[in-house]
Amino acid sequence: MIEKACAFIRERISDFTPEFCLVLGSGCGTVAEQIDACAEIPYRDIPGFHPSTAPGHSGRLIFGRLAGRRVVCMQGRLHHYEGYSMAEIVFPIRVLRHLGAQFLILTNASGGINVRWQPGDIMAVTDHINFMGDNPLIGPNRSEEGVRFPDMTHAYDRELLTAADSAANALGIELRHGVYLATSGPSFETPAEICAFRTLGADAVGMSTVPEVIQAAHCGFRTLVFSLITNMAAGVLDRPITAEEVGEIGTASAGKLGRLIEKTIEIVR
Ligand code: HPA
Repeated sequence: MIEKACAFIRERISDFTPEFCLVLGSGCGTVAEQIDACAEIPYRDIPGFHPSTAPGHSGRLIFGRLAGRRVVCMQGRLHHYEGYSMAEIVFPIRVLRHLGAQFLILTNASGGINVRWQPGDIMAVTDHINFMGDNPLIGPNRSEEGVRFPDMTHAYDRELLTAADSAANALGIELRHGVYLATSGPSFETPAEICAFRTLGADAVGMSTVPEVIQAAHCGFRTLVFSLITNMAAGVLDRPITAEEVGEIGTASAGKLGRLIEKTIEIVR
C-alpha cells in the first residue's frame, strides 16, 4: 500500500523530493498559505489515505517551497478519537518518509498544564508521555523501515530544537520548552487528571502527535514539534473549556507559528 500511495504521489510531483514534512494541527493550517505550491493532492484521492473529520483540518497534501526549501505539508491530520486506528493515523508519515523527506515538523493545539504559561504561548516539545493506551508500532515489525524496539531518547531532535530556539530568538518570540502528554480524547480532561499529569511532569496536554512521533522515530525522521497552548487545561481556571476557544486562539496565533516554522526551516541544515 505504501508503494501504491508513493507511486500515485510521484506521478503528480515528478522529481520533486521534499526535505521537510510539515503536519499542521487544529487551527494551525494557515501556515500552508505561505508555501509556494507546485502540487496539491486531496487525501481522499491518495490510496490508503483517509479524510480528516476534525474541525479546522482541511485534508490535503501541499508540495512546494517554503523559505526556499522543498516541503510537503499535511494540511490536517487524523486523530484516534475520530475512530481511526493508530496504523491509519501514521500511514501518511510512512509514505512521506518513503518519498524521501528527512525532517518532520508537527504542530498541535494543547491545553496548558504549566500555570506559568498562557494561551497563545508556543511550546517546543522536548519529550512526551503517551497516555493514549495504544502504540502505532504494535503488530509485526516492518524491519525494512526500522527496528523492533526503537529508542525514544532522541525522538525530539536536539539540533532541530536548537534551530527552533535560534529562529524564535531572531523573531523575538518567547519559545517555551516542555513535555507534551497525549490522551485519546475526545473529552477534555478532568481537573483531577490535570493535577495528576502535572505531578507526572507534563506541561501541556493534547489528543494527537504522539502516534506520529513514535512512527517517525521508527522510520528515521528527525522530528520537531511545536505545540500552541490554546487554553489553560481543565481546572487551572474555574471555567469550562470549549472547542471554540481552542479554534480562536489557533486562528489568532497561526501567523506567529507560521513565521516560526518558516524561520526554523531556513536555519536547519
Ligand atoms: N486538552 C486536550 N487537548 C487539547 C486541549 C486541552 O485542554 N486544548 C487543545 N487541545
